[in-house]
Amino acid sequence: MSQKVALVTGGTGGLGTSICHALADSGFTVVAGYNSGGNHEKAKAWQAEQKQAGYDIHVAYGDVTDADSCASCIKTVAELTGGTVDVLVNNAGITRDGQFKKMSWEQWDEVLSANLDSMFHMTRLVINPMIEKGWGRVVNISSVNAQKGQFGQCNYSAAKAGIHGFTKALAQEVARKGVTVNTVSPGYIKTAMVAKIAQEVQDQICSGIPVGRFGTPEEIGRTCAFLVDDQSGYITGADLSVNGGLHMS
Ligand code: CAA
Repeated sequence: MSQKVALVTGGTGGLGTSICHALADSGFTVVAGYNSGGNHEKAKAWQAEQKQAGYDIHVAYGDVTDADSCASCIKTVAELTGGTVDVLVNNAGITRDGQFKKMSWEQWDEVLSANLDSMFHMTRLVINPMIEKGWGRVVNISSVNAQKGQFGQCNYSAAKAGIHGFTKALAQEVARKGVTVNTVSPGYIKTAMVAKIAQEVQDQICSGIPVGRFGTPEEIGRTCAFLVDDQSGYITGADLSVNGGLHMS
C-alpha cells in the first residue's frame, strides 16, 4: 500500500469527491482541499459522509484564488499527513456563464482566478518537493469547452484552454525529474455545475453527445487514478478527453 499523499483541490465537490475516492482506492492518503465559502462545518459533514461510505479522507481549507491561503492549505496537508504532496489534482473551478457582449469584468476575473491563477498558486507550492523526491504527478482538470469553445463561456473556455498550455510547458520542465503533468478534459458530467444549466439547454447539449448521455464523476475519477499511477510515468504533457465523443481532436 502506497503512503503517497494526494491533494485534490475542490475535493468536496461533484468531480472532486469521485477523484478522492478513486485515489483512495488506489492506495493514496487523500486530502480534499475545500473552499465552500469558508463553511468548515459543510466540509466536516462531507468528511463524515465519506467515512460512512468507507473512505478516510482528510480535509484542508484553502481558497485557490489566494496565494497565502494556498500556502496555509499546504501547511495543513503537511500537519495532517506528515508528508509533502506527491499527487496534485488541480480540480477546483467555477463557471460564470453569459454571452461576452454582456459579460462583466467580475465574471471574467472570478473565472480566470479560480480556474487558471489557481494552477500557479497550488502547483508552485508542490513542484519543488516533487522534484526533490524525484517523483510526482500533477493532473489539471480542463474541459471539452477549452477544446471546442462554448457559447456563453468566453471566460471559462479561455481559462480552461490556458490550463493545457500550462500543462505542456511544465511537463517539459520536469520530465527528467520523475514528475508528470497532464490535463484531463471532461465533457458534460453529471454534477451541480451542469445541473445549473437550463433544462432545455441541457437537453440540446445531450442530444449532440455521440455516446448519448452525460458522463459520470466516477469516469473522471478513474481517469485521474490512471494518470497518477506509478506505471503511467511515460504519459506526460497529454490531454485526455473524457467527453462521450462530443469533441474529437
Ligand atoms: N449557439 C448559438 N446561439 C445560441 C446558443 C448556441 N450554442 N445558445 C444560445 N444561443 C442563443 C439563443 O438562441 C438566443 O438567441 P435569440 O436571442 O436570438 O433568441 C440567445 O442565445 C439567448 O440569449 P439570452 O440573452 O437569453 O441568454 P443569456 O445570455 O442569458 O444566457 C447562456 C445564455 C447562459 C450562455 C445559456 O445559453 C447557457 O447556459 N448555455 C450553456 C453554457 C454551457 O454549456 N455551460 C457549461 C457549464 S458546465 C461546464 O462548464 C463544465 C464543463 O467543463 C463542460
